[in-house]
Amino acid sequence: MSKVVAVIPNNPVLLQNTIQQPNILMKTHNIALVTGDGSAPEMMRAACRVASKAANKDGGVLNFHETPAGWNAYFSLGDTLPKSSLEDMIKIGTVFFGGVGDPQHDNTIGAEHPEMKPEARALLTLRKEMGLLLNFRPMIYYPELASLTNVKPENIPSDKIIKQIWIRFLLEDSYFGNQDFLNNPDYKVAAHAAAIGACVKSAVRGTEELVSDIAYYRKKTIEKYIRAAFKHARELGLPLISIDKANVMARYDYWRKIVTRVGAEEFPDVNLTHQLVDSANALMFTPAKLHGVIACGNEHGDILSDGAAAALGSMGMMCSSAINPDTGAAMFESGAGTAPTIAGQDKANPLGRILTGAMMLRHLGMGNAADSIEAAVKQVLELGYRTIDLAPANQEGIKVVGTEWMGDLIMARL
Ligand code: IPM
Ligand code: MG
Repeated sequence: MSKVVAVIPNNPVLLQNTIQQPNILMKTHNIALVTGDGSAPEMMRAACRVASKAANKDGGVLNFHETPAGWNAYFSLGDTLPKSSLEDMIKIGTVFFGGVGDPQHDNTIGAEHPEMKPEARALLTLRKEMGLLLNFRPMIYYPELASLTNVKPENIPSDKIIKQIWIRFLLEDSYFGNQDFLNNPDYKVAAHAAAIGACVKSAVRGTEELVSDIAYYRKKTIEKYIRAAFKHARELGLPLISIDKANVMARYDYWRKIVTRVGAEEFPDVNLTHQLVDSANALMFTPAKLHGVIACGNEHGDILSDGAAAALGSMGMMCSSAINPDTGAAMFESGAGTAPTIAGQDKANPLGRILTGAMMLRHLGMGNAADSIEAAVKQVLELGYRTIDLAPANQEGIKVVGTEWMGDLIMARL
């Protein structure tokens, strides 16, 4: 097992109320920590301090175990997902993931060693090995950030409450088809794909090249996924909006049939609508029409959730969790990028990571801690504090702060 790293703030005043020694009444939670690439370590430093303090106040102690991944791990350990990190993450079962990737290294080392590109190697491997089927991306609309939204004021509900709980299907689809099926003797489709490949190869030899990703869904996995999404909608009293491309694609025609059947048989009380992915994309700008729990495939969810976050404010506010519904294994990763161009400058917005930390605490049973973080974020925005990405030029009452200061502001309000 890797070493335990205490996440200690630089500011000695904050230090006093951050690190609390465990006592017998406090529950210890082990967490695998990936600080990550680019600006991620700075943002994660703030997020870990905030999560630790909120947990302490809710009877919990967080023990972070460093499990390096990303280009930084390649430089120190020779692999963007070192074996020891993967083993520890699986053993610990809860991962707080700062984000990996840096285009500069992708274009240099990655050009020579494409298998080391960390987005695919680290993130996809973890999702698969930990069985992370459900990816929750709740979109929170902050009226304080209204000037950043791409939604016209008349399309924001008068109570200003927008509920878009995206639940992305995080396995299978085009992300995993090739590695699951090509050259895998267990599947007939491998032979089929190889035959098509050989055929195409001979047909296009000469000037053309052809590349393909196999996209697939399994009946049992769709059923498990959609039951979880329906259950969530029922608990929240929200409709379920299922997104697909059933008009032209086989896997989504199948998806829609299963969703319809499971809905009718097991969740007749949940209002179900189907939405084609292209029209769902257009509805992003009239969020009142996309109100509910939104179920969508892996690739659709990747694309649409960035759009939803940007439409309502900023990618920097995105929070995300990925859960295995059978084992409870979970990874908490904001889903936003690593901001490599401003790395080391104390400029990146840590709020998405901080809110993702709140999701982690809720998952670990510390709902009060999670609530207090979310409330603190709202208060800080109300008071006009912004990292530079959220600060429109010349807006009155806006105070621009750095990554660490933003962390301090949240800490002070827990
Ligand atoms: C996300 C990211 C990842 C994805 C990448 C980095 C593999 O964009 O979590 O949305 O495509 O799933
Ligand atoms: Mg994405």
